[in-house]
Amino acid sequence: MEVPGEDGLRADAPLLAAWHSFAGRVGTPFTIPGHKTVAAALDPALGPVLAGDVPLYGGLDTVKLAGGVLADAEDRAARLWGAHWCRFSVGGSTHANQVLALAAGRPGDEVLVARNAHRSTLLGLVLAGLTPVWLPTTVDKRFGIPIGVSIEDLSRALTAHPGARAVLLVEPSYLGAVSDRSALIELAHDAGLCVLVDQAWGAHFGFHPDYPAHALAVGADAMVLSAHKTLPAYSQASLVLARTDRLDRHRLERAFEAAHTTSPAGSVLASIDGARALMAARGPELLDALAGRVAAARDRLRAVPGVEVPGPADFPPGRFDPAKLVVLLRGNGADGIAVEQDLIARGRPVELADQDTIVPIVTVADTQDTVDRLVDGLTAAVRAHPGPPRPRPPRPVDDVRADVRAAMTPRDAFFADHETVPVARAVGRVCAEVVAPYPPGVPVLVPGEVVTDSALAVLTGARRAGTRIAYAADPTLATLLVVARKSETGRGARPLAVPSADGD
Ligand SMILES: Cc1ncc(COP(=O)(O)O)c(C=O)c1O
Repeated sequence: MEVPGEDGLRADAPLLAAWHSFAGRVGTPFTIPGHKTVAAALDPALGPVLAGDVPLYGGLDTVKLAGGVLADAEDRAARLWGAHWCRFSVGGSTHANQVLALAAGRPGDEVLVARNAHRSTLLGLVLAGLTPVWLPTTVDKRFGIPIGVSIEDLSRALTAHPGARAVLLVEPSYLGAVSDRSALIELAHDAGLCVLVDQAWGAHFGFHPDYPAHALAVGADAMVLSAHKTLPAYSQASLVLARTDRLDRHRLERAFEAAHTTSPAGSVLASIDGARALMAARGPELLDALAGRVAAARDRLRAVPGVEVPGPADFPPGRFDPAKLVVLLRGNGADGIAVEQDLIARGRPVELADQDTIVPIVTVADTQDTVDRLVDGLTAAVRAHPGPPRPRPPRPVDDVRADVRAAMTPRDAFFADHETVPVARAVGRVCAEVVAPYPPGVPVLVPGEVVTDSALAVLTGARRAGTRIAYAADPTLATLLVVARKSETGRGARPLAVPSADGD
């Protein structure tokens, strides 16, 4: 494959090209942003922070968007991923997931939602007034990691909820596994539902035969990609792509605009365009090298006694991200939080660390040298914190999430009167807030759900083990926000979960 030079990438990336040419044609702008590219003259400390900030309106394009560069770039992305409609978001996959929720149905409609949905999807349901029916995520017995939604669970949910409008999946999961998406999508389509996939962690899927295909390629109606997570793009850079056979293009467009800024950062948009052009030109080559490096890193880490590192060969073909490095410490006994502290001290911070798990993000921007240094540091840190092997958690967190019962819709609970109670008195009350260990920000409790002992045990256990509890009004978990008694009997007071096929 021909490797394009810098200009080659710009030739296929209109927003990236516009960003590069901005400096030469800016003149003295009388448009926003207020820094007008000369903030350093006001204070030297402001200069570097604002360097490179080019707006879309009056920057990459004219204020009247006369050049059509954004539409051109989005059209190129739509063609690359086989979509009918594509938009670039500067609001992250958080915004993109909310777009899909707003496009999925009408207030009051039921949607079948994988229980490992990200907080952004849950708030999307609140915004859109959709009622979730939770689909449990099955847990792999060997590694204890979530492996997606089973065909049986979706099938039972479809039978039990014939009026449901859409299926919302998270593929891949935060730990790299992918459901049997083709089968799930076929089942949902046969029942007349559209399938919307949060592929935030899989923006690199579909460019190499060893990686899972992307969701649209296996039949999904829409997908969300966080360009900033696995591709070389600015923080907040995300794409939402859809096929419009089952989704309405105008609704998608209105949903997108409803929650997007009217002043998007051109630098973020240009980075999405550039990352897309890079993958179009060099995706297979870059991903090949990445998979090779991560496979070698897995082999080296597996040599540490008791350390488990699941890889693609542990799952059915195409069902695990070859670039995902998930280091499981239970069998070794090292404490993941102590290992993380060591890694931070060595200048190698990782994306996720809890007591049992370390997830460093390795991408096409890494080199053999950076991956080697990560593995050296990780191996030394694990060896520096020996401990007795820990048994598997008796109840994986995903199982606990699946059996929490909803008493109200998330939307009713979100708008209900609420009160703050000591956590010991919260059991049996209806939760009024999202509570999630972070990362990855997948909630254990959602507004409208009845607080259970097991959910609280998971949350307090995570906190004790050093994980940050996010989104809760009281991150120490001493108290919890619950729906006020007088509001508990609101609309939607009915069980909304589908029991797991596993039955445990
Ligand atoms: C599965 C999933 N979806 C969506 C998001 C939100 O993405 P962003 O940070 O781009 O808003 C995240 C963030 O971690 C995520 O893990």
